[in-house]
Amino acid sequence: MAPEAQIAFTGRFGSVEPHPLKARAGHPEYTGLLVLENAPERRGARNDFWHSDISCAPTPPSISVLHAITVPDGKGDTMFCNMYRAWDSLPDDLRQRLDGLTAEHSGEAIRQRNNAADTDGAKDIHVPPPEVHPVARRHPETGRRALYTNRFFTTRFSDRTAEESAPLLADLEMRATAPDNVYRHRWQPGDVLLWDNRCTMHYAVYDYDENEPRRLHRTTAAGERPE
Ligand code: SIN
Repeated sequence: MAPEAQIAFTGRFGSVEPHPLKARAGHPEYTGLLVLENAPERRGARNDFWHSDISCAPTPPSISVLHAITVPDGKGDTMFCNMYRAWDSLPDDLRQRLDGLTAEHSGEAIRQRNNAADTDGAKDIHVPPPEVHPVARRHPETGRRALYTNRFFTTRFSDRTAEESAPLLADLEMRATAPDNVYRHRWQPGDVLLWDNRCTMHYAVYDYDENEPRRLHRTTAAGERPE
């Protein structure tokens, strides 16, 4: 899939936007095409944590499209979990407790990731104030509720401190990422994967040597404010 085709395909789902925090290099010729690359002498910023893309934004992307150009043989998989199912399968008392709650999502974790490691992530990015989103959002197209917390961006429940929130955020991640709720994609060059950030989380497995080439092109379609 050529860059133009990937941008046009992604544009069917919403306007294609560059990363709002400018956390990664965009493709020099194609605005909106993010290059996720690891190569000798060029450490790619890691994404080996469960997250929903840019949930710290006021209107996080709805759809992400990832196109594998070069992948380490049998390594560097990407995992996805189903956040509808995560919400639906919570024990009733926990789901009732969380229903109607909101949580803060911050881009500070991206800034720390980029600054801490020797990676190609942009340094000292400006991080806007946290955004508050519902703990369970309603998908605007399917009408279904999906759990919408992730431990990378979600710092706390609005009525709790970060310290008080941490155990429950960890518990929710553990439930959401139970093996029977996860799809693990083993990449072949040329694969194109599309996912809906409003009802999934994903995790880029970092099991390859830091010098092994891995290059993917990512595009995202603008979404709406979670409700
Ligand atoms: C991402 O988290 O958007 C990238 C996933 C990957 O590199 O596999």
